[in-house]
Amino acid sequence: MQNATKLGVLGTSVVGRTLAAKLAELRHSVMVGTRDPAVTLARPNADSFGNPPFKVWREQHPGIEVGTFSQAAAYGEMVVNATSGMSSLDALSSAGHDKLAGKILIDVANPLDFSRGMPPNLSVCNTDSLGEQIQRAFPKTSVVKTLNTVNASLMVAPKQLADGAHTMFMCGNDAASKAKVAALLESFGWQDVVDLGDITSARGTEMMLPVWLRAWGALQTPNFSFKLVR
Ligand SMILES: NC(=O)c1ccc[n+]([C@@H]2O[C@H](COP(=O)([O-])OP(=O)(O)OC[C@H]3O[C@@H](n4cnc5c(N)ncnc54)[C@H](OP(=O)(O)O)[C@@H]3O)[C@@H](O)[C@H]2O)c1
Repeated sequence: MQNATKLGVLGTSVVGRTLAAKLAELRHSVMVGTRDPAVTLARPNADSFGNPPFKVWREQHPGIEVGTFSQAAAYGEMVVNATSGMSSLDALSSAGHDKLAGKILIDVANPLDFSRGMPPNLSVCNTDSLGEQIQRAFPKTSVVKTLNTVNASLMVAPKQLADGAHTMFMCGNDAASKAKVAALLESFGWQDVVDLGDITSARGTEMMLPVWLRAWGALQTPNFSFKLVR
């Protein structure tokens, strides 16, 4: 993406924070969305991964605005879904169909169901995907699925590994939307962005998560990525 853009980032945990901070660093205007800003800013404790309370992150990023999901969706010319996959449809509904209509929604969420413990299961797979569920629920929005196969840190700094020589997948129904998202990914440092096709390809990239989760356990680090060798 060549020009500065207004982005709404829905999600206040590590992915939302990481993407928002990188986008702001790249001189885009950013609003982070949450269910209730007052509640989120009042949380006193670090999360289970040791990330500091949101208000600490907010103080470190004074140029980034904070609003409700609806306010952030309205603010963004382009919107990122960085909400918990099991809650994404609810979060996007509260953002509002009208606020998302006519916009690109970059969906980085994974439909991970932790209700039976670790590792989580996929709540939808094989014949459907979260990306498709979102696209069906928001037909006036152009959903582009990407970045869900790496951890938050690698999303915005792929050159941490192999000087960036690894693969990022992308899919969605609209070629022009994917071209814009590919440009954004390139501005993060991604060099090998592979367009897998329409949004049904989200089945494949979401189903990479069971492999990703087992590899995390085997390697004892989340800092790894997939590479298509050809
Ligand atoms: N962690 C990673 O490195 C990584 C990597 C790739 C993909 N992903 C995917 O990226 C997404 C974000 O991951 P994350 O670890 O940053 O955060 P997360 O804990 O999965 O999700 C946090 C966000 O989900 C919202 N949320 C939770 N329950 C909700 C509900 N019942 N209704 C509406 N919204 C709800 C929270 O809203 P509030 O702000 O109101 O609390 C918060 O903004 C997930 O789908 C995850 O699978 C994560």
